[in-house]
Amino acid sequence: MATKQILILPGDGIGPEIVTEARKVLEAADKKYNLGLSFDEDLMGGSSIDAHGVPLTDSALAKARAADAILLGAVGGPKWDKIDRAIRPEQGLLQMRSKLELFANLRPALMYPQLVDSSSLKPEVVSGLDILIVRELTGGIYFGQPRGIRTLDNGEREGYNTYVYSESEIERIGRIAFEMAQKRQGRVCSVDKANVLEATMLWREVMDRLAPEYPDVELSHMYVDNAAMQLVRAPKQFDVLVTGNMFGDILSDAAAMLTGSIGMLPSASLNQHGQGMYEPCHGSAPDIAGQGLANPLAAILSGAMMLRYSLNMAQAAEGIEAAVGRVLDQGLRTTDIATEHSTKVSTQEMGDAVVKELLA
Ligand code: IPM
Ligand code: MG
Repeated sequence: MATKQILILPGDGIGPEIVTEARKVLEAADKKYNLGLSFDEDLMGGSSIDAHGVPLTDSALAKARAADAILLGAVGGPKWDKIDRAIRPEQGLLQMRSKLELFANLRPALMYPQLVDSSSLKPEVVSGLDILIVRELTGGIYFGQPRGIRTLDNGEREGYNTYVYSESEIERIGRIAFEMAQKRQGRVCSVDKANVLEATMLWREVMDRLAPEYPDVELSHMYVDNAAMQLVRAPKQFDVLVTGNMFGDILSDAAAMLTGSIGMLPSASLNQHGQGMYEPCHGSAPDIAGQGLANPLAAILSGAMMLRYSLNMAQAAEGIEAAVGRVLDQGLRTTDIATEHSTKVSTQEMGDAVVKELLA
């Protein structure tokens, strides 16, 4: 069997600790299912700035291009907040997304029955929740030109960005949403601000144009402010939510929290060829870094998504996901999802427990 090259980018803050656990679990899956995985590591974000002066080196980018899949921890932290905005840690992540054309960001918000009490919402509102947010990741206001901070004639400074989407960009992310819905409950809700922003009027038009090609999928539209409200009011009404880069950033954090902790949510960022970068939805959490407090499950579940979407190893992915379920059944919890009756474990103990269940 040909080996599959996985590039690991631990990043900053809690990134290295959670990725260590995810790698352990992937290595255990490799052993159990004989997957032929091989691993390489490189720097991205603040750690790369410290070592090389830039958040993403050409050589790390070249390794990423050559890899079958990339597993990322998280980037950023207060240490690099004051540096020139062109080389902030986040720029490494944005460049990676853009250069590899990872336009399709899949962020599933899945409620584990064991964690219903960890949600800040009532159990009946969230139990059984299973939403997929499809976020456009390489366009919109994150990348639109012109952008910058300029000085006006009166000496005052002005910041500006451009919210722009072409028809082809909307169409390709729309198709991903429809295709995902076909494998789920068959419903797509497209989120926009078409009552105000022209770019999203076009977004709505393109989604409507695509809909007849997917007669088995029901398409609806919702303004983003209402979508934010509906997510905390009655989130189970949603199956697939598709939206632009910035709205998706915001709504996916809200959706994550419905499930009890953002520390549980994996994500996949895919390009047209199925190559992908996999990362937890949470950030680098510098406040808890290095203390064994971080929840590694989002990173571990990102590893499972990688096996499923980029490496065509669904059985191993299911094995990891089932092992995570059994560890939660045992009552093991990191601090973020701990309750009165659970057993509190560290980052490393959680990773070890998943490996043990996987190999059992
Ligand atoms: C995310 C993050 C990133 C984003 C940051 C770190 C640039 O919040 O992946 O959701 O805004 O896309
Ligand atoms: Mg975000």
